[in-house]
Amino acid sequence: MVHKSLVTWNIMLLMLARNGFVGDCQNLFRDLMRTGIALSEGSFVAVLSGLVDPEQDLEYTAMIHGLMTKCGFDGDIALVNCLISVYVKCKAMFWAQRLFQEVPAENIVSWNTIIDAFVKSGRPQLALEMFVNMSSRGLVPSQATFVAVIDSCACLKNFVYGESVHAKVIRSGFESDVVVGTALVDFYAKCDNMMSSHKCFSQIEEKNIVSWNALMVGYSNVCSSMPIMILRQMLQFGHLVNEFSFSASLKSSSVLNLPQLHGLVIKMGYEKHEYVLSSLVMAYSRNGLINEALSFVKEISNSLPVVPSNIIAGIYNRTCQYYETVKFLSLLESPDTVSWNLVISACARSNNYNEVFELFNHMHFACIQPDNYTFMSILCVCTKLCRLDLGSSLHGLIIKSNLYNWDTYLCNALIDMYGKCGSIDGSVKVFEEMTDKNIITWTALITAFGLNGYAHEALKRFKIMESFGLKPDALALRAVLSACRYGGLVSEAMEIFKQMGTAYRIQPELDHYLCIVDLLAKSGEVEEAEKIITSMPFPPNANIWRSFLEGSKRQTFVN
Ligand SMILES: *[C@@H]1O[C@H](CO)[C@@H](O)[C@H](O)[C@H]1NC(C)=O
Ligand SMILES: *[C@@H]1O[C@H](CO)[C@@H](O)[C@H](O)[C@H]1NC(C)=O
Ligand SMILES: *[C@@H]1O[C@H](CO)[C@@H](O)[C@H](O)[C@H]1NC(C)=O
Repeated sequence: MVHKSLVTWNIMLLMLARNGFVGDCQNLFRDLMRTGIALSEGSFVAVLSGLVDPEQDLEYTAMIHGLMTKCGFDGDIALVNCLISVYVKCKAMFWAQRLFQEVPAENIVSWNTIIDAFVKSGRPQLALEMFVNMSSRGLVPSQATFVAVIDSCACLKNFVYGESVHAKVIRSGFESDVVVGTALVDFYAKCDNMMSSHKCFSQIEEKNIVSWNALMVGYSNVCSSMPIMILRQMLQFGHLVNEFSFSASLKSSSVLNLPQLHGLVIKMGYEKHEYVLSSLVMAYSRNGLINEALSFVKEISNSLPVVPSNIIAGIYNRTCQYYETVKFLSLLESPDTVSWNLVISACARSNNYNEVFELFNHMHFACIQPDNYTFMSILCVCTKLCRLDLGSSLHGLIIKSNLYNWDTYLCNALIDMYGKCGSIDGSVKVFEEMTDKNIITWTALITAFGLNGYAHEALKRFKIMESFGLKPDALALRAVLSACRYGGLVSEAMEIFKQMGTAYRIQPELDHYLCIVDLLAKSGEVEEAEKIITSMPFPPNANIWRSFLEGSKRQTFVN
């Protein structure tokens, strides 16, 4: 085009932004500025709407904000509202609130923008606080306000506050409104109150597919047969159904009605829809019809999408068909992290350890980000093979992946790995660096000390753990008893053992008995060991007898 008007530019900007060409949009915006044409509201709306990942775009947002002020658009409420929501998405609350304070307080759209932005960015508590502030100024909530506030209550499962909002909805006459009503249906469903949910549904004057689906999803989460009845009703009354209606019905299907539902899925042409297909496979698997699932998938399997493929492979894996798991997923064109995890886990379980490490390398080359499950599988293999070198380089990768800061289970597995591979320093280092320690963390550390021959230290840590108010469980007690067993700490172990049923309220199990009998027998206290064996509430197993007999033999020999 030779002559591009501002409208042309704006349309082009908007098209790029809406279709995810953010970089191109920003480049074009720069070109537009260079032409010297005066920007309009539409230019700013377009460029702002392109900010899909605002967390990385704060600087750019601030620049656009500056430009808006410079061009005299800072009084344009629609634009300011747009900017507020981008700032909230950027988690730049200071700027969002500052802007918000600048717009006239009676502007309900600004309130709605900021409340909605709070909900959408996962801060429903703040949204409710804003709503209270807004109400205290005597502003009348609109449809959009109610929807955002009810959604917040649903996120927080705040039943009491939600009910009071519901009362306000009734007073404002929005009860029959389809958008507000559907939000209420969803809210009550999330609070597990299907009776109120259904009642709100009935109040909606012109129900749409979203309202029907919200009701069905609610029922499907309480495993009732209602979703299927509702689906029949929808079809009977000639309402539209979509993939969400099917997935909700499939979620609550039974062996009896699943074939019929499947038939319906085929009839309505949803069989190859990825989401419905996944729900179908899940439904078959949940109802124990695994062979049926496998056979109907085989019929359409030439290009099965990744999610249902992972579900099928997950079934193979759970039923210990590891070869099938790997074979099935190797057909995938673009496996995702879940697929890789399944293959790695299947290889690890079938003891193909070399393949595990090879797969992990491949994953890296394919630029698939490993997650905590991946690391967990590999770490377990390192522990099993006692490969401290691989384990500690994995530790490096875990630190880089950022999981190190919050994934307690992964860190516990690291402590375990270092302990079992003989590096107590490694265990202690991970332990000290953790901020969020649970009972398993302490148990892993105590085990590590015990395994490496530091019985006194293990005992000391056990006491420290108790002094922090953590109540030892059966595994923690086993860890400290076996540390005593390896270290020959008889009186210390007996003291703990005697307190098990009383102070700790944990009945000793076989492992605990084994530790204590073995320890006593090895220390020559055969009579004491015999007393323990006779006091056992269940028959001793071969290991206990072996420990006891070996102790007695030694005793006879000494005498
Ligand atoms: C609500 O108003 C109070 C008092 O004006 C203020 O301190 C608080 O920050 C406001 N809440 C939010 C979420 O802005
Ligand atoms: C594979 O199955 C086993 C149980 O057999 C399970 O513990 C493991 O988590 C599964 N792996 C994956 C990646 O789902
Ligand atoms: C992995 O992280 C997710 C949360 O992102 C958590 O729900 C899950 O339990 C973790 N799994 C393991 C094996 O640590």
